[in-house]
Amino acid sequence: MKIAVSGKGGVGKTLVAGTLARLFAKDKYNVLAIDNDSAMNLSYTLGIKQEIKDQITPISEMKDLVKERTEVKGAGPGVYNINPKVSDIPDKYKVNGPNGLELLVLGGIEEPATGCLCPENALIRTLLHNLFVQRDEVIIVDFEAGLEHLGRGTAKGIDVMLVIAEPSQKSLDLCKRIIDLSRKLGIINIYLVANKVIDDSQLEIIFNRIEDWDIPLYHSIPYDSEVGQADLKGIPPIDHNPDSKAMVSIKKFYGKLKKLKQELFDL
Ligand SMILES: Nc1ncnc2c1ncn2[C@@H]1O[C@H](COP(=O)(O)OP(=O)(O)OP(=O)(O)O)[C@@H](O)[C@H]1O
Ligand SMILES: [Mg+2]
Repeated sequence: MKIAVSGKGGVGKTLVAGTLARLFAKDKYNVLAIDNDSAMNLSYTLGIKQEIKDQITPISEMKDLVKERTEVKGAGPGVYNINPKVSDIPDKYKVNGPNGLELLVLGGIEEPATGCLCPENALIRTLLHNLFVQRDEVIIVDFEAGLEHLGRGTAKGIDVMLVIAEPSQKSLDLCKRIIDLSRKLGIINIYLVANKVIDDSQLEIIFNRIEDWDIPLYHSIPYDSEVGQADLKGIPPIDHNPDSKAMVSIKKFYGKLKKLKQELFDL
């Protein structure tokens, strides 16, 4: 199953992606977690050892690799291969994490003001496509905030798109746009998940807002100060306190996804 996690900045994408990856791995699924955010903090939520973390270079920053794979020999500057060979990259650069899970850090695909990052983007996009279409692990991608990552190639092969909202109209605005775009790109299983929910009045406002959407609220994760405590210490929330409110809720959410996986693939 290929799961993508998207939403506005700071809504809890990394918390959800990382905790789900740990739960699938704990259940003995082969899990490859993908960090596609330039901030690269999925490794904390997963609990990658510091000495391993120190050795990670995001694929998007591997200048020689990017050049080798995207260079068109004999062509001038500005010409590059938009469909580079990538199939060997995940196994070569993934690192080990807890419960037997693995992590591949792609880095972001944003374009800086200082110039085009086209070859890097081509490599990362092709890699995402390859990961979604070719691999047979449970793949969980922590996307960067926004919608830029969603294109025809990157959406292909996504089995489940998790769209994370926090109780704010701004975050719901973006969810709506992500849902509409995901639909257009042919993604069938799109699930809206609320995070950092403090009380029922917030849930009610969310319900009102999504009333005429074609997607219901699939799950709701409460606000939980233990998550912040874990972040402060730099340890995965699931190791900090596996019984905290948010963790118990994400475990329930995981149960639903596992059932969905069985419906989609195992029956
Ligand atoms: N359920 C929750 N309860 C309390 N705090 C939370 C909860 N979920 C996330 N947070 C806090 O919100 C912040 C953002 O969470 P996280 O990094 O998972 O979001 P993100 O969407 O990945 O952000 P970014 O867009 O920056 O990558 C963190 O400080 C985290 O501790
Ligand atoms: Mg994040």
